[in-house]
Amino acid sequence: MSIHSLFPTDIYISKKTGPKAKDFIRSLTKEARLFQASDPEGMRWSKKNYPAGYTSYSSISNLPFRSSGFDRLKTWIDGQVSKYAEHLEMDLDGGRLEMGTCWINIMGKHSHHSFHIHPLSAISGTFYLQVPKGSGPFKIEDPRLGFFMGSPPRKPKASPRNQRFVNLNPEAGMLVLFESWMKHEVPANLVEQERISVSFNYDWVR
Ligand code: NI
Repeated sequence: MSIHSLFPTDIYISKKTGPKAKDFIRSLTKEARLFQASDPEGMRWSKKNYPAGYTSYSSISNLPFRSSGFDRLKTWIDGQVSKYAEHLEMDLDGGRLEMGTCWINIMGKHSHHSFHIHPLSAISGTFYLQVPKGSGPFKIEDPRLGFFMGSPPRKPKASPRNQRFVNLNPEAGMLVLFESWMKHEVPANLVEQERISVSFNYDWVR
């Protein structure tokens, strides 16, 4: 008898470490707040579309071009995306993966982002700057969920590879990469302190 695991959904997790990592994360967090303070257009958009939070998704989505700190972050993420693409054995056909958009999320109490995908991109991800205890996980859904029909549910204590929803618990300095078609959700932040992160999309450019 043999079991073959086929069609896996691989999520890439890494952490910014090193003696200067804490200072680097602190300075990006400060910058994120400064961007928020100088972005009335984004504040207006967020009020309507991102209750209890701020996102620069619609107004400032090219952070690395505006700030040397975020440009340094991009250089590090570029390397991580290359490793992930190599692991996935992507055939880029002479092209490359390029960060197309990069924006800030500041999520206050009760702020959430329901299940979605990032259409038109290849790899997406988030880098966490501030994650207070109780501010919620990063939840991902089995991409085959719509096909299960009569398939019995899995045991509550089944291993993550057999679950249909998996919660990752981010922390400051953590990077999560996933293929852009993967459905994901940020459940509500239940505490007063804000959860702050930077999200981005990489496109396949030929
Ligand atoms: Ni997303």
